[in-house]
Amino acid sequence: MREELELAEAAVREGARTRNDRWYPQFHIAAESGWINDPNGLSFFADRYQVYFQHHPFGTLHGPMHWGHVSSLNMVKWSREPIALAPSVVEDRNGVFSGSAVVADDGRTLAVYYTGNRWVNGVNEDQGIRQVQMMSESDDGVHFRSKRMVVDAPPGVTHFRDPKVWKMADTWYMVFGACSKDNRGQVWLYTSSDMENWRFDQVIYEDPDPDVFMLECPDMFPLDGKWVLSYCPMGLRPRGHVGRNHHNAGYVVGDWAPGGAFEIVAAYRPSDWGHDYYAPQSFEAPDGRRIAFGWMGGFDRPLPPQEKDGWSGQLTVPRVQTLGPKDTLRSEPVPELKQLRLKTHDFGALSLGENAGAVLLSGVGPMEIEAEVDISAMASERIGFEVQLTEDGHHTFVGYDAAAGRVFLDRRMTAFGDGGVRSAAIEGDRLKLRVFVDNGSVELFANDGMVVLSSCCFPGEGPRAVKVSSEGGAVTFSTLVVHDLDTIWES
Ligand code: FRU
Repeated sequence: MREELELAEAAVREGARTRNDRWYPQFHIAAESGWINDPNGLSFFADRYQVYFQHHPFGTLHGPMHWGHVSSLNMVKWSREPIALAPSVVEDRNGVFSGSAVVADDGRTLAVYYTGNRWVNGVNEDQGIRQVQMMSESDDGVHFRSKRMVVDAPPGVTHFRDPKVWKMADTWYMVFGACSKDNRGQVWLYTSSDMENWRFDQVIYEDPDPDVFMLECPDMFPLDGKWVLSYCPMGLRPRGHVGRNHHNAGYVVGDWAPGGAFEIVAAYRPSDWGHDYYAPQSFEAPDGRRIAFGWMGGFDRPLPPQEKDGWSGQLTVPRVQTLGPKDTLRSEPVPELKQLRLKTHDFGALSLGENAGAVLLSGVGPMEIEAEVDISAMASERIGFEVQLTEDGHHTFVGYDAAAGRVFLDRRMTAFGDGGVRSAAIEGDRLKLRVFVDNGSVELFANDGMVVLSSCCFPGEGPRAVKVSSEGGAVTFSTLVVHDLDTIWES
């Protein structure tokens, strides 16, 4: 694989020389150049957080996949690592697809499981694809050896990918997505006692929707006494609010014990209500926290930086996951992100009159906004922040619509890329917002992560400002602060 990795590295470095940074993220993981999609192989190994990702080093479109790699001591500052995996054997000749990583029992070996993707005719998908689950190991998280197939696909099953592995008691478990012979989206469960020989256990889940033909990137993990099964259904028809994404990521909650069936206690819900959240993967941090990253990007909608800027796709900020009221998968930014705060602008208890607005800061870079309001006492119909606001009036609008009882992320005035408004209902008397604004994305966390909206947003040219506004009534924020955020890259 050495030669393939060297070629890929050279391509990434070459691409980085001419990269346009107008929308390049400051505090989100992205490739130095080229395309990325799903987070892969999330783990804590060799005293560092390891994040791999689907990466096409030779261009800004999806192509023969590699695993890019970054690592961190603390999930605050990240170092770029050499590309970890490249297509190099017959099973993965057309792509080292998504997968996961686990630390072996010796504590010194990182084992990765991924899908080897192969075009049957060797040129394109016209004569079909073959996908199998592969394994490879590393002593340092950087150099990988002895790629080999560990789970073959039954004849006639072509969508067969994205292994997620974990251990419980003495048994290793692997789930991945498959399309059944009658075209249904399923998650298959395998077990192993030695990490190497895998036995089919059961189809642990089939999507109840007959339109859904494949469940990409399944993840299954225990959380607060229950089990979460998260996945990305392909084929969902647009029907109301749930499932109108081009790329859906959602979850069910259930009870499960080894050997038994997965008993659902909470039906499918989106994991994130924004435009761009796909293929989330989680892992367990050394302190027991369940932490997830997702991918902000998309396959079938071109993103503005893809055209000329030399990069495409970024991961979300890391999020701690817990189960909230009504078995809601609650996602909050890891507290470590507070270490990225450079300077804090405190606007105290800011009051705005009816139909009033105020520019809070101009000429600002990436930021986090924290705001709190007693919405039970608020006269305002709608409060919001115009973020990435440029002199030509373009901005992305995030806030709360009191009549609808929903928080929203509105891209109708965003300068570049797709438009559209996304929203989600919130409950309770208080509204607590944290909004992360980067050069090419906005993530809104409401009420301690009960609702999250993540979207790619590409601002216009020139200096950027942030403005707060209130419509149809007055409002007083009990808290309103803006933090300038630092870069995540180690200098
Ligand atoms: C999801 C996905 C996975 C696949 C990978 C290929 O975004 O399609 O199912 O393994 O991306 O890049």
